[in-house]
Amino acid sequence: MKKYNFYAGPSILSEFTIKKTAAAVENFADTGLSILEISHRSKEFVAVSDEARAMIKELLDVPSGYEVVFLGGGASLQFCMVPYNLLAKKAAYLDTGTWASNAIKEAKLFGEVDVVASSKEANYTYIPKEYTIPEKVDYFHFTSNNTIYGTEMRYDPDVKQRMVCDMSSDIFSRPVDVSKYDIIYAGAQKNLAPAGVTLIIVREDALGHVERAIPTMLDYRTHIKKESMFNTPPVLSIYAALQTLKWYKEQGGMKAIEKINLDKAAVLYDEIDRNKLFKGTVAVEDRSIMNVCFIMNDEYKELEAGFASFAAAAGMVGIKGHRSVGGFRASLYNAMPKSSVEALVACMKEFEKQH
Ligand SMILES: Cc1ncc(COP(=O)(O)O)c(C=O)c1O
Repeated sequence: MKKYNFYAGPSILSEFTIKKTAAAVENFADTGLSILEISHRSKEFVAVSDEARAMIKELLDVPSGYEVVFLGGGASLQFCMVPYNLLAKKAAYLDTGTWASNAIKEAKLFGEVDVVASSKEANYTYIPKEYTIPEKVDYFHFTSNNTIYGTEMRYDPDVKQRMVCDMSSDIFSRPVDVSKYDIIYAGAQKNLAPAGVTLIIVREDALGHVERAIPTMLDYRTHIKKESMFNTPPVLSIYAALQTLKWYKEQGGMKAIEKINLDKAAVLYDEIDRNKLFKGTVAVEDRSIMNVCFIMNDEYKELEAGFASFAAAAGMVGIKGHRSVGGFRASLYNAMPKSSVEALVACMKEFEKQH
């Protein structure tokens, strides 16, 4: 039976990525070796890594003065690597969810942290808008898409200070003005590749302003200098990432992809707003186009388990909401076809008819 993959991450990848990666597991670049066993220093793999970094620069229109780095350790390692490299005295953080607050916790190990605003008191159901970033901070950090709560800042804020963003769950979902940022980081396992690689885009002149000694492996400059080959990189994930990037280019790049994403998300939000059984969980203006969270309307609460089983029987996978929100969460990453969103909507309509 066809499965519709709504997992929040690791999550759906394009058929193109999966097929190309599967072929490379058998025979990578006509080497007669599998991508699983090839040396990261082989000329064939170095070419993959170089091409992937170049394609990221092309797709996101990365200006000169920036480097693209592939690292292990997940986005969570960036929660400490960012302050290690950038926080001399004080940094400003926007608290919009669990991942943002995890980043705040790590930053506090390195200096003073000014949490400029938080929506924690409302279980992170909106993005705070009224806040002031102190003039003299080393950087301002925010999370563009809150995977757990389904809120998103789908714009690049204008701030005078250096800006750092965790784009783990919405990178490549829209065009980004990279020139406004000093560091962008993202775990690969949503819109790029299987888990294992983290993508970092870093403005080189943002580095070198802290006095502390930085362990070699945690110093961005190490990886920039060695072109992400300082130590063994996650070879398979980088190979898969390159396939996804090629697929994005084929689709027409970030503008075209954003259009598709907006259209897909609207199909589901329209149904949530129309269907008497369901309601959204976050402020309408802050709704994420990547992670759509919804719950049963109060008078239909007892139907939650029933809808979960009904949807599962129709092939929907991964729509259970995160435990801190409850209800349902459908993740609509780039690789999710509109037809799958329509299948979920059909399921919601049918369940409504039955009740
Ligand atoms: C926005 C965001 N930041 C950070 C993380 C943590 O990523 P990782 O598991 O790669 O450390 C996640 C994981 O889902 C996430 O969604």
